[in-house]
Amino acid sequence: MEIILLGPQGSGKGTQAARLARQRGLVHLATGEILRAARRAGTELGNLAASYLDAGQLVPDAVMIDLVRQEIRSAPGGVCLDGFPRTLAQAQALDETLAELGRPLDLAVALELPEAMLLERISGRRVCTGCGAVYHIVYAPSRVPCVCDACGGRLEQRSDDQPEAVAQRLRLYREKTAPLLDYYARDRRLREVDARGDVEEVYRRIDALLPVSS
Ligand code: AP5
Repeated sequence: MEIILLGPQGSGKGTQAARLARQRGLVHLATGEILRAARRAGTELGNLAASYLDAGQLVPDAVMIDLVRQEIRSAPGGVCLDGFPRTLAQAQALDETLAELGRPLDLAVALELPEAMLLERISGRRVCTGCGAVYHIVYAPSRVPCVCDACGGRLEQRSDDQPEAVAQRLRLYREKTAPLLDYYARDRRLREVDARGDVEEVYRRIDALLPVSS
């Protein structure tokens, strides 16, 4: 099964994609987290991406398309994409790659949330500097404040969760990524999901759109 989660920053793509991938035996392909992990590891990709990440800018299409092509090829059991595609060029390249592999897209799920709630989720988000696990100070707190439950790493705010970068990311979402909703709606691959409510409620809404798992 091949699924895309679309939606603005803070709508819960990463949270839901991780869970969906676990439940459905898919690879969770989170491009933002791949870039952040590359930066933590100091790789060539990480160094290239660093300035884009901090400023809330998009990493160039050519870099992202190459990266995602490789990742999809090495996940023959299917992927749940989170953070890709973000531009029309990326969406077209994804369709081409999946067609070459004979694995057409099953569904693009768009998470919808009012802006005030997006900002509340983003401002309370904390991520582990060690393993990248995601928390929220109110909705998904760690057991010990500022310490990751999974690896004991230190939790901090993402550099791009500062107000200026958030405003830039939301602007780019509206300009470059929101038009993809029409791209997927045109041939009926899009489903819109209300992302209000707790993680479990939102997950049930998404799961109800997918074929019953065996
Ligand atoms: P990326 O990491 O993909 O960030 P994003 O798209 O900006 O999305 P977010 O991570 O902000 O939000 P989310 O929807 O995943 O929400 P989450 O589940 O964390 O990209 C970062 C950067 O990488 C980009 O700006 C760009 O520079 C680069 N990049 C990545 N992909 C690229 C591409 N394809 N092309 C070019 N550049 C690319 O949830 C948010 C918070 O809310 C969390 O704290 C969570 O615990 C909490 N939460 C989640 N669900 C709920 C709920 N139901 N109730 C209460 N709290 C909740």
